[in-house]
Amino acid sequence: MTEKNHYFEHVDECVGFLRDRLPFIPSIVIQLGTGLGGLAGQVQAALTLSYGEIPNFPTSTVSSHQGNLIVGHLHGIPVIILQGRFHCYEGYTSKEVAFPIRVLSLLGVRTLILTNAAGGLNPAIAPGSIMIFRDHLNLLGDNPLRGPNVESWGPRFPDFSVPYGPALIALAQECARACKLDRVITGVYACIPGPSLETPAETRWLRACGADAVGMSSIPEIIVARHGGMDVLALSVISNVNDPERMQPIILEEIIAAAIAVQPQLEHLIGEIIRRIHAGNTTTLDDNAASSPG
Ligand code: HPA
Repeated sequence: MTEKNHYFEHVDECVGFLRDRLPFIPSIVIQLGTGLGGLAGQVQAALTLSYGEIPNFPTSTVSSHQGNLIVGHLHGIPVIILQGRFHCYEGYTSKEVAFPIRVLSLLGVRTLILTNAAGGLNPAIAPGSIMIFRDHLNLLGDNPLRGPNVESWGPRFPDFSVPYGPALIALAQECARACKLDRVITGVYACIPGPSLETPAETRWLRACGADAVGMSSIPEIIVARHGGMDVLALSVISNVNDPERMQPIILEEIIAAAIAVQPQLEHLIGEIIRRIHAGNTTTLDDNAASSPG
């Protein structure tokens, strides 16, 4: 009970703070991952808050992640940018990692677009590809909805039979074609706790489990967003592809460099996606808000 009250109070305080401070509340939030924070530079910012200024926000301990919440316009479209995220390997629980998304969901933000860098597992995927999530494996051993449920936030047992709305996936694929990006695919993302990277046996096992890519982020935020009835579009930049029979060392600097190399394509793609979402091209088909089995 205490845990619920603390978390509830922390969320409530943060919602109140942002409601007072934000000049407007966009319907889209874009969370930027490793090496992909550059999109923030294109935003005409109306307000930038560092995570440290926002009550109860966790702060990132990873140097490749800046910690800013930016409200402004991207290509004339109102957006919130979360530049930097939190990870369970930093010592945060899934609930803490997803705190910003819970707060934004309660403020009325409707769509979450998130980006990350991931390792490829499917040998058919080329490094430098962009993978649209069509499903995921949560291997964190934690779930952000663990503990008492707040019914007004979402159901106790949210349905995940359609975790990623087909209309938003189709829209992203259409945008990739419009942007002439030929290395955009869909796939299944496996989220491991990290921070140690996969062994050859783990890589073999993840492949056998049907995962196309592996990383250490995003799933807590996605679960909370879906619990709150938000639509989610998740995009991984495939920085490296792991072959269990010939594992190569996976080096953070190389992951970041690979993500930065794909950043212009990702920015182009996201620009097109938000234009179309804003124009109202996707609405009812993705209206698959999580519901309780009763
Ligand atoms: N494994 C886990 N996380 C990652 C990888 C990887 O190979 N590449 C980028 N993030």
